[in-house]
Amino acid sequence: MSTGYADIVIGLQYGDEGKARVVDMLAKEYDIIARFNGGANAGHSIETEDGRKLALNQVPSGVFYPEKTLYTGSGCVVDFAQLSQEVAGLEAQGLNVKDRYRIAAQASVVQPHHFLIDGATGKSVGTTKKGIGPCYADRASRMLGERLTNIRAGDLLDNPEKMFEAMRANWAAVAESYGADAATGEAWITRIREGFEALKECIERDPLFLEKKARNGARILFEGAQSVLLDVTKGYVPYVTSSNTVAAAAFTGGDLPPRYHRKTLGIAKAVMSRVGHGPFPSEFGGSRSEAYCMQANPDGSPTYGRKVEEAYDIDALMKSTDGFEMGKAMRVLSREYGTVSTRPRRIGSLDLAALEYAIRMNGVDELFITKCDLLREYTRTLSGKMPVTVGYSLDGSPIDYVPATTEQYSKVSPIIQEWDIAGDELTEVRQVADLPESVQAFLKAIEDRCQTRVMGIGVGPQRNQVVFF
Ligand code: IMP
Repeated sequence: MSTGYADIVIGLQYGDEGKARVVDMLAKEYDIIARFNGGANAGHSIETEDGRKLALNQVPSGVFYPEKTLYTGSGCVVDFAQLSQEVAGLEAQGLNVKDRYRIAAQASVVQPHHFLIDGATGKSVGTTKKGIGPCYADRASRMLGERLTNIRAGDLLDNPEKMFEAMRANWAAVAESYGADAATGEAWITRIREGFEALKECIERDPLFLEKKARNGARILFEGAQSVLLDVTKGYVPYVTSSNTVAAAAFTGGDLPPRYHRKTLGIAKAVMSRVGHGPFPSEFGGSRSEAYCMQANPDGSPTYGRKVEEAYDIDALMKSTDGFEMGKAMRVLSREYGTVSTRPRRIGSLDLAALEYAIRMNGVDELFITKCDLLREYTRTLSGKMPVTVGYSLDGSPIDYVPATTEQYSKVSPIIQEWDIAGDELTEVRQVADLPESVQAFLKAIEDRCQTRVMGIGVGPQRNQVVFF
């Protein structure tokens, strides 16, 4: 049998580029869909041809294909309480999951005190409050004094009672300072225990599970979560997630040697978005938009959201000279609201300087651009043209690099080029030849600038609304 290989799909911006949908589309060409980083902080949604919407947090995309193996690698952090519910929800829809799902024994377990700490301290970064950061921090700590802080899925298999006792000790060590009591911790441990019991048959004891599959010809698709500009090292610290999200991380967190790498596919969104705090040079309305999108009621719920914004006069907002107002309209048109929170996502123009940087950093071989059907909306603006960020200036002078530090990146001003773009509806287009010339020229310009091949574009949310090149 011939040797297998691994391809990687990563997001090239700040998340929510539509990775799951692309993975779902490509999954039929692979035997195994694997995740290598993150946990329940990922919100992946897929819309099927028959209009069914499927929300995934921890289960790898590709779940629609019953014969595919699903794998959660050792670089992920596992919330057993959430994961067991997610699996049960999918199985209730008639999808078999458990008998083809493997979870690396070396993946760390999200513990109750991780949620407690993230909930209490994650606001300044704008985390998803799923305990991800504290869990990765505890993984690196290993032990704090006599307390075992890094508990892995396999440790739960070996010594469940000892590990639940360690969780209890970890809770007790921090609970009081966050105003939480022992009963709350106990209830949480019970949920994790139930989740673990429901899924323990999925825990994979063999660290060479994927390697053996690849050696025997398996085709593996690694599905990145959270995107490269949120990488814990390469992103704009501290406004990042806590795992490595870059392509290379697939070969640590994904439990496969790099020799199996075949190609890397990057996903970018034609109109960019970001959730959480942090620099976003091409944001419509700049820091005003960031403050607006991140504001919250004292109880934590947003003061506004999809419903409020959808009631606005979109035509009037699109004609506004104020980027902040125009951005609101683009958000409504692109439906960029948190799937759970309905929190508005921050919106900005496509940033080719950042895209080229992300592509070069990750050696992206092929590019897929989602939401290209939105580009025509720019014809409704006052200038009728599409703004594209092509570079940055810092302290009044253009720079030829993408700054490494958050301090500098927060200060750059975007250099914007305006493009003529056709107002034609693209949602029904399926062939490259049927794309308006202006769209084809724009995609060619992206290829030239980023030195990579555009392999496809999305022209609508449904599975079949794609054009392959
Ligand atoms: P954490 O991953 O929950 O620690 O959150 C850290 C940052 O990453 C915050 O700005 C989050 O909004 C962002 N983030 C985490 N997961 C996702 C995702 O799946 N899509 C987009 N942003 C994410």
